[in-house]
Amino acid sequence: MISHKPTTDFTHPIIRSYSRRKILKLAGAGALAYTGSLATACSSRSSSSTKDVPIKIGVLLPYSGIYATLGDSISAGLEMYLDQSGYRAGGRNVQIVAEDTEMKPDIAQQKARKLIEQDKVDLVAGIVSTGVLYGLREYFHNNKKLLICANAGGNKISRDMKSPYIWRSSFSNWQPNWPLGLWAYHNVGNKVFMSAPDYGAGHNMVDAFAHSFQSAGGTILGKQFTPFPSMGDPAPFITEIRKSNPSMVFCFYSGSAAVAFVKAYDEFGLSKDIPLVCSGFAVEEDVLPAQGSAALGAISGLHWALLLENETNRRFIAAYKDRTNVDANVFAVQGYDTGRIISHLLDEVQGDTRATSRMLELLHDVSFSSPRGPFKLDSKSQNPSQHIYVREVKEIGGKLHNVVIEDLGEFTDPGDNSLG
Ligand code: BEZ
Repeated sequence: MISHKPTTDFTHPIIRSYSRRKILKLAGAGALAYTGSLATACSSRSSSSTKDVPIKIGVLLPYSGIYATLGDSISAGLEMYLDQSGYRAGGRNVQIVAEDTEMKPDIAQQKARKLIEQDKVDLVAGIVSTGVLYGLREYFHNNKKLLICANAGGNKISRDMKSPYIWRSSFSNWQPNWPLGLWAYHNVGNKVFMSAPDYGAGHNMVDAFAHSFQSAGGTILGKQFTPFPSMGDPAPFITEIRKSNPSMVFCFYSGSAAVAFVKAYDEFGLSKDIPLVCSGFAVEEDVLPAQGSAALGAISGLHWALLLENETNRRFIAAYKDRTNVDANVFAVQGYDTGRIISHLLDEVQGDTRATSRMLELLHDVSFSSPRGPFKLDSKSQNPSQHIYVREVKEIGGKLHNVVIEDLGEFTDPGDNSLG
């Protein structure tokens, strides 16, 4: 059980905390396009207030490209957790050194090398895209460097590409979609057309939904894999969907690709008569304001929802809104929980970052109350066991949000390909 508790003392004398909060208040986390150099420059000021050598957390995230808002949100959540703890863990100051991975595995590899070999970071967090995660696996494994993955859900990292040095605080791509496929067969319809970007995550999400949907008796009318990162003109894809005459459409998109797909789905008139059932990222709180009424009624599966009823979530969403001026989203939750896990490890080893083996052992016993509900790391998949919620986009007090319509219970990645 994790014992690390953030303080709520926002008057801790670290200059960086105030600077960052002010920037976030002015700009709003969703609109931020801050760079690694800003994060580094701000954070380095914190070390001057103490004599000790700060622990350096390397952060690899996309701050540009279609997943830029995901990177910004993960950073904002991680920084909020560290700020609430006064940027202290294991008796030492903590500093973030952030780098933009864009969406490119080769750039991410260069940035990982820079963080580890030049900046001498103690451990690394972040990674949004499955392709980037797969490209970094060998480097972290061979260098025995701890990586806490705060998003990218590539199934193989919990299966045949597992490394003792790579753990996830986020999800596997199988996780939200397999339970949703079963639910959708029983509650929405029995014929589905599927759409996702043509890269590892898109294929994982489609395979997981298809596995449970077909096992229950459903029919897959067709699958389309659109160009990644940008799908280009959505018209031909929407036309292909319409022609298949499905009882529902399943999709996975995220970031600006999710905005483009969901808006096109509505503009071409499909949302009126074909229910959209999706992986929750496609209509998450980061994209809902841009999607507007086009997202109304969309059903999705995910491990969190803004209005989820639990005390940790109530406190988390209020503090995040206060700090950034925008509503929280699932990526911010993952960043926040990443901060908690890292702080716990550092506390337990009393700031001795050379104690990698001990930190790896500790990861097997991590459990705590997350904004997403009960959270524990599963030893086999090195990924969270967590509840999956079915949500529906509804208008609440003049704004669109994902409202939980069913808690499907706790799910753990199977750790192999037996279920998709
Ligand atoms: C992925 O590439 O694994 C991913 C990206 C965005 C949202 C969810 C998963």
